Amino acid sequence: MNDINLKKTVKQPIIIDNYLSEIEIDIQREELIKGLIAEPKYISSKYFYDKKGSEIFEKITKLDEYYPTGTEKSILTDNAESIVKDFRQTTIIELGSGDSSKISIILNSLSNLQLESATYIPFDVSKTAIEKSISDLSEKFPVLKIRGIAADFMRRLHLIPKIEHKVISFFGSTIGNLNRRNALEFMKKIGTIMNSGDMFLLGIDMVKDIKILEDAYNDNLKITAAFNKNILNVVNKNLKTDFNADLFEHYAFYNTQKSRIEMHLKAISDMQISSPFLTEKVRFKKHESIHTENSHKFTNENILEFAKYAGLKITAVFKDSNNWFSLIQFTK
Ligand code: SAH
Ligand code: AVI
Repeated sequence: MNDINLKKTVKQPIIIDNYLSEIEIDIQREELIKGLIAEPKYISSKYFYDKKGSEIFEKITKLDEYYPTGTEKSILTDNAESIVKDFRQTTIIELGSGDSSKISIILNSLSNLQLESATYIPFDVSKTAIEKSISDLSEKFPVLKIRGIAADFMRRLHLIPKIEHKVISFFGSTIGNLNRRNALEFMKKIGTIMNSGDMFLLGIDMVKDIKILEDAYNDNLKITAAFNKNILNVVNKNLKTDFNADLFEHYAFYNTQKSRIEMHLKAISDMQISSPFLTEKVRFKKHESIHTENSHKFTNENILEFAKYAGLKITAVFKDSNNWFSLIQFTK
C-alpha cells in the first residue's frame, strides 16, 4: 500500500506506507458516532489533525503562551550531541511526527557519516503532515533515507520495524493526550518493540503553576480556540454532519485532581445535529459541551512509572532550568 508521489523540486520520491484505508474510515466513523451519542459527549483528539488542523497546530507552537514547543526544542538543542553520540546505522522512528522540526535538531547534529547510514520514519495519522515533512527534510538532508508511515499509533505500533539500532521518539508530550490506561499500555508496547540497545526518547510536559498552564491553552490570538473548533469541520467531513463551529465556544481549564488541561466545545444554544450515518439527531442543550482533548501534565513519579510499565531503563532525564518540560532517554 505505497503512495508514491514524485515532486519536481525533490530528488527523492515521497514514499508513505498508508494504513488509513477505507476500513479505517469505517472504524473512525464508528468511533466518532460512539463519542457523539455518549453522555457526556466526546471526540478523540486525534481528529484535530486534518490539513487545516495540522497547520493551526504549527501556529500554536509559535505562540508566546504555548511554552512546550520552545522549551522542548531548547532541551533538544542543548543535549543533541550527547543523544546522538552512539548513533550508527540508526533507524529513527518518530511517532506523531507533525512538522518534524524537533527531529531536525537531532538530524542537524549528526555527522555526514551518521546521516548517510540513517533512515528516518515519520509515523503520523496525518498523511499531509508526513508529505510536507518528507518534502522539507529531503531538501535539507538529501542523503537521508526517509519513508513515512501514515497510521494510528494506538492501533498499529507493530508497524515499527523490528530492526536493530532503533531510536523511537515521541515528542511534544503527545503521550499526555492519551488517558492514563492508554498511556501505560502504550509504554508497555514500546517496551516489547524495543531490542536491547535501542533508544526511546519521550518528551513530557510537567505539572506547574496553573496560570502558565491555562494561558497556554487560552491564547490571546484565539488560535487554540480555532484549533479546537476545527475538529467539528473534521467531523462534518467524516460523518457528513451539519455542525456549525460558530455555535460553539472554546473552553479550556486545568483539572487539578486529574493533573490535566481539558479542552471542551460548549454549545451556545440548544441545537440538533444530523448525519446520514445516524438514525437519530444528536441533541445539544445550551452550555452542553463536547470534550475534545485531555493534555496530562506529569511529575517525576510518572517518569518512574512509565519506565516500570515499559520494562525500560532510564539513561537520562534532560530538563530546562524551570523544570517545565522533561525529555527522557530510555534504553532496554
Ligand atoms: N511531535 C510534534 C507534533 C505534535 S502534535 C511536536 O512535538 O510538535 C501531535 C501529532 O501527533 C500530530 O501530528 C498528529 O497528527 C499526531 N497524532 C495524534 N494522534 C495520533 C495517533 N493516534 N496516531 C498517529 N499520530 C497521531
Ligand atoms: C499535541 N499535544 C501534545 C498538544 C497539547 O498541548 O496537548 C495539542 C494542543 N492542544 C491545544 N494546544 C495544543
